[in-house]
Parts: sequence; C-alpha cells; structure tokens
Amino acid sequence: MQKYFLVIPIVIAAVAGTAAAEQLVPIKIKDGSIDQPLTAQAGNPANGATTIADRKLGNCLACHQVTKLKAEPFHGDVGPTLDGVASRWNEGQLRLIVVDPKKVFEDTAMPSFYRTEGMHRVRKEFQDKPMLTAQQVEDVVAFLKTLKE
Ligand code: HEC
Repeated sequence: MQKYFLVIPIVIAAVAGTAAAEQLVPIKIKDGSIDQPLTAQAGNPANGATTIADRKLGNCLACHQVTKLKAEPFHGDVGPTLDGVASRWNEGQLRLIVVDPKKVFEDTAMPSFYRTEGMHRVRKEFQDKPMLTAQQVEDVVAFLKTLKE
C-alpha cells in the first residue's frame, strides 16, 4: 500500500511535466557502461563543447579543466582534468559517468546529469527533469570522445 503513495505523485508529476520536459529515455546499465546511445541522432561534439562550457547546462568547467576549451574564462579543479579522458574510459563508460556518476564513483561531488530518482534536494521546478536532455548527453559524450591523450 505504501508503495502507491509514492508511485501516484510520481505519475502525476511525470504526466504534468511532459509538456515542458521530454520523456525520459530508459537507461540500460551493464558492467559499468551504457552501451546504447540515448538518441537515434549521433552526438555532435561542437554542441557538446557548448553544453560543457554553459553554466546553465553542463557547467562542467566549474569542476574540470579542459585545455581544448581554453578560450573559456574559468576552469575549476574540484574534479580531474578531462584532457585525455577518452584514453581512460570508453564511450559507454563516459556515457554512464555523465548520466549517473554515482554508479562509477561512489559519493562523488559530481552531479547526475540524466537521472531524476533519488534527487530530493533540487528546486521544485527541476524535480522530475534531468539537468541535460538525452541529445545534450550524447553531444557531451561525443565531445569527450575527442579528448584523447
Ligand atoms: C561539482 C563538480 C563537478 C561537476 C559540475 C562535474 N564534475 Fe565530473 N567529476 C567531478 C569529480 C570530483 C570527479 C572525480 C570522480 C570522483 O569523485 O572520484 C569527476 C569525474 C569525471 C569524469 C572521469 C574523469 C577521469 O579522468 O576519470 C568525467 C569524464 C567527468 N567527470 C565529466 C564531467 C562532465 C562532462 C561534466 C559536465 C556535464 C562534469 N563532469 C561535471 C566533479 C564534477
């Protein structure tokens, strides 16, 4: 019974949110990797670079350094540099790190960019909405794939 009290508001919120938010793509995680792209349209690395630098989107540079994006004013050092990241992780692993980094690095400070469950401390208008769209996730992954050592 208790389960329904949880499920019903989620369903209502999901239905109410569909006009603004896109339908969440189901994610299949296997062996620390999401092998299947989230969208039929391939990721665009140039759009990915924009998403990574944009403070309202990825805001990745708040925590990461990326030499390729040196024209951007601020690069933080909370996380490791993303230079050479494609030599450390394959595409499916990079996709999982962007979607839900807690599945790879337990207790990480990095936020989940395509996950909505278990996020209680987000502002109401962002609840049930991932931080990036599925296409933006693919664009970011496409850009990360260019960062080879
Ligand atoms: C609040 C800070 C923060 C933000 C914002 C952030 N990250 Fe991270 N990220 C981290 C930390 C910290 C780690 C190291 C993992 C850990 O916690 O052990 C990490 C790890 C990573 C890794 C693995 C790096 C490696 O060499 O192993 C990738 C890839 C990555 N982040 C990509 C991104 C992308 C892409 C974005 C934006 C969409 C982003 N991060 C936003 C903090 C952040």
